[in-house]
Amino acid sequence: MEQPRIKIAVQKSGRLTDHSMELLTRCGLSYSRGRDQLICYGENMPMDVLLVRDDDIPGLVQEDVCDLGIVGMNVLEEARLDLQSQGVNNLFNQIRLLDFGHCRLSFGVPVDEAYEGPQSLTGKRIATSYPRIVGKYLERHGVPGTVVTFSGAVELAPRLGKADLICDLVSTGATLKAHSLYEADTVLESRAAIIQTPLDVCPEKEAWIQRLLQRIGGVLQVRESKYIMLHAPRNALGEVRELLPGSEAPTIIPLEGRDDKVAVHAVCRENIFWETLEDLKEAGASAILVIPVEKMLA
Ligand code: PRP
Ligand code: ZN
Repeated sequence: MEQPRIKIAVQKSGRLTDHSMELLTRCGLSYSRGRDQLICYGENMPMDVLLVRDDDIPGLVQEDVCDLGIVGMNVLEEARLDLQSQGVNNLFNQIRLLDFGHCRLSFGVPVDEAYEGPQSLTGKRIATSYPRIVGKYLERHGVPGTVVTFSGAVELAPRLGKADLICDLVSTGATLKAHSLYEADTVLESRAAIIQTPLDVCPEKEAWIQRLLQRIGGVLQVRESKYIMLHAPRNALGEVRELLPGSEAPTIIPLEGRDDKVAVHAVCRENIFWETLEDLKEAGASAILVIPVEKMLA
């Protein structure tokens, strides 16, 4: 019997595209692109990637057209509120947060206007592509305002006289700045996440999904992890160990012909900064080497 194939929806072009494809590649997937460039056929795993508009991803997964999707929490939250308002209870499952696509959904106010907290939104027209999230925010703060839905170029709305302010995604803040807007309150902190269809998947698919998730876990962990090796005076071992960020049980190895010094090898599960190395040296460590970790399986 043929192995059923998993379909994964990924943003076609945008802030998540490269990171999403890189993550799948790091999980071992190699693929060839279809002629229309919209499907990547997995060659060594029973998985295909569909490249679609990010706003379409929750719907595709909800309707079981795709088994999995990689999409921003901002898009997910809007879709969730939308489905709930339609009385849909069995929603797609958010199964894992990822470590890319960080941004905020914030209010953007014209630079010559004051903003003093949610009360300032009273009676204002707010342009956004996230009407349900913004509507819920207004409700939660008990301020009456009008939400004007835009599907793109939201930042132009105030200048076009269509709104008094906007609520849109901000990452570097360059877009707001270019349109003479400043960032006020944040409505939602977002990053990429993986979602799964709410429907049952067959055991063959489920096994591959679990395998993929385990590999993703490994990839995320590895990105933060470093292998560190150093020499330390025996009498400074306690201090040196405390300086190693996020390391569990370091390996202590005797040095040939040296009673006063040992070698310490450890996996650090957090980033190691120059400051840490300087502190280690201060504590008496020498011959310090920091090495990236290639793969990890807990
Ligand atoms: C968002 C948002 C802004 C821009 C902000 O769009 O609508 O245009 O990013 O980023 P910045 O603060 O770094 O300038 P995005 O590229 O996510 O496209 P989409 O919302 O249309 O999917
Ligand atoms: Zn979009």
